[in-house]
Amino acid sequence: MGIRRFYFKYFGTLQEKERFNTIKRSNYAHGMIKAALFARDLGVQSVSALEFGVSTGGGLIDMERISKQIRDELGIHVHVIGYDNGEGLPEPSDFKDHPEIWSKGDFVMANKDELLSNITEAEVVFGDVKNTARERESYYRDNPISFVSIDLDYYSSTMSCMEIFKFDARCYLPAVSMYFDDIAFYTANKWCGELLAIEEFNATNVMRKIDTDRTLPGNRPYKNTEWYRHMYVAHILDHELRSVPSKKL
Ligand SMILES: C[S@@+](CC[C@H](N)C(=O)[O-])C[C@H]1O[C@@H](n2cnc3c(N)ncnc32)[C@H](O)[C@@H]1O
Repeated sequence: MGIRRFYFKYFGTLQEKERFNTIKRSNYAHGMIKAALFARDLGVQSVSALEFGVSTGGGLIDMERISKQIRDELGIHVHVIGYDNGEGLPEPSDFKDHPEIWSKGDFVMANKDELLSNITEAEVVFGDVKNTARERESYYRDNPISFVSIDLDYYSSTMSCMEIFKFDARCYLPAVSMYFDDIAFYTANKWCGELLAIEEFNATNVMRKIDTDRTLPGNRPYKNTEWYRHMYVAHILDHELRSVPSKKL
């Protein structure tokens, strides 16, 4: 395994590198590649990948790099869009926001101009996600949402950003790869934080459901990688392709 991993790290295709966990932010790479392959199977040339919670932009810059590699190797355009207020975490609402861990002002975007000068294709939508998540529906109809990372830390912010899943079904691929960052620490539980937001989303939406990604680890060479359990899938059950028996999803 060691030699193959070494070989793929330097000489492999993007998919080989991702499969052997040699890419920085393998979690993002996995979701974005899976989404791009799915898009290609469906004949969709251009999709969107979103990051909720940008902070200083380390994740967004990595997503932009991965999207360029996907375009070069898989031929799919992945538009990377980050959402952040630029001011760090707001005041936590109550225990559900895990105030035992996070406080107002954590993860403030250190230098907005520097971040914007470091990205060439990605975009950042600035503002509280409770206002911005419902914007851009027509954009997503042309560039369907294929991957979403949620790293807003709080239950309240995560609930707000999940409004992104209330658009017309044409704004999505029939299944959207997702990454949830804040679900695996000792005080995490399904009555707080991102896990509670997933529970409530599923309880209140009939045709849109978020479930764990059941393909992991599958036949991947490494079975116990930590980020696997952070990967989810948003199922767009009212997408027309989920009701066409002859289409192979
Ligand atoms: C942990 S940081 C994100 C780190 C980033 N994903 C990375 O990997 O580099 C969390 C971010 O969520 C943002 N945030 C939290 N609640 C928000 C809200 N309601 N609206 C907009 N941004 C919010 C904060 O500003 C902060 O930058």
